[in-house]
Amino acid sequence: MRLTKEEIVALLADEAGEEVLFRQADEVRKEFVGDAVHLRGLIEFSNICRNDCLYCGIRRSNKKVCRYRLEPEALIETARRAAAAGFKTLVMQSGEDLYYTPERLCPVIEKIKKFDVAVTLSLGERSYADYKAFREAGADRYLMRIETTDKDLYHRLDPGMSWQRRYECLLELKELGYELGSGIMTGLPGQCLASIAEDLLFLQKLGIDMAGIGPFIPHAETPLVREAGGTLGLALRTMAVMRLLLPDINIPATTAMETLHPGGRLKALQAGANVVMLNVTEKCYSRLYALYPGKTGGGAAETGRDELGEQLETLGRCIGAGYGSRKQNPVC
Ligand code: 5AD
Repeated sequence: MRLTKEEIVALLADEAGEEVLFRQADEVRKEFVGDAVHLRGLIEFSNICRNDCLYCGIRRSNKKVCRYRLEPEALIETARRAAAAGFKTLVMQSGEDLYYTPERLCPVIEKIKKFDVAVTLSLGERSYADYKAFREAGADRYLMRIETTDKDLYHRLDPGMSWQRRYECLLELKELGYELGSGIMTGLPGQCLASIAEDLLFLQKLGIDMAGIGPFIPHAETPLVREAGGTLGLALRTMAVMRLLLPDINIPATTAMETLHPGGRLKALQAGANVVMLNVTEKCYSRLYALYPGKTGGGAAETGRDELGEQLETLGRCIGAGYGSRKQNPVC
């Protein structure tokens, strides 16, 4: 659907009318991607990060975080267990930890691909050569949020990083044939509705395959501790408008939505979302991967899956049986 920036701002601002927007996004979701909810198993394999983003709990300057990194064998074992529990997509996420060079990571990707799963990487900014090597090793998808398209805000929140380089990374990933996921945070300090509208138009133009949208949640050990943070309402409205703009993409009910408001995930699934990521990282590690306080999940691969299945049934929805890539969506 085509919407102007002004129309998007009006939708984002309209708290009173949000149920109408949610219903419309839910109908578009049903028509274009069906009732299946695709599950992803999230493996947080390293919280070591070279970056210092002001909002993020695992930023380099946070000395209170106990740092960990799963070695290749442990990473493969976690993936094996998640695949055995039925996950058809595994998301391998880490801080920007350069220990995992192509020499170390490619053999891991090759082994995990043998478990008959789609592999999504979320490792941040790398060189074109690295992205190419990971793709050739079998990685199918890549997730990297642009966070905001307001360049001044980006450079203030992500010191030492370049918005332009991040954008180029997204273009390179697309060119290499990855299914591309990106997205933003809502409720960042200094971010206005017009800026979010521009973000949405940017993501539409880029033609992403997946859009993750979550509220910013202040973390105590970061410089943004005293900021207000985002609301569930604005994050949901942003997500719903994304569904209208890109009707056939994958849109997760994000963990940050559930963290901010128990039940946020179910609300999101009724306002345009068709994907859920469940944390399959061992609890002793996932609790150290605190991007924001209260982040849910972690533990045995099965937990959360059955509970979600039951919740979905009450909505007349079901867990997707396939890999859940864009365009293959309607399988239940
Ligand atoms: N609140 C909400 N989301 C956050 N992220 C990082 N820190 C926070 C926070 N404090 C998001 C970013 C990043 C993704 C992995 O987590 O958008 O891309």
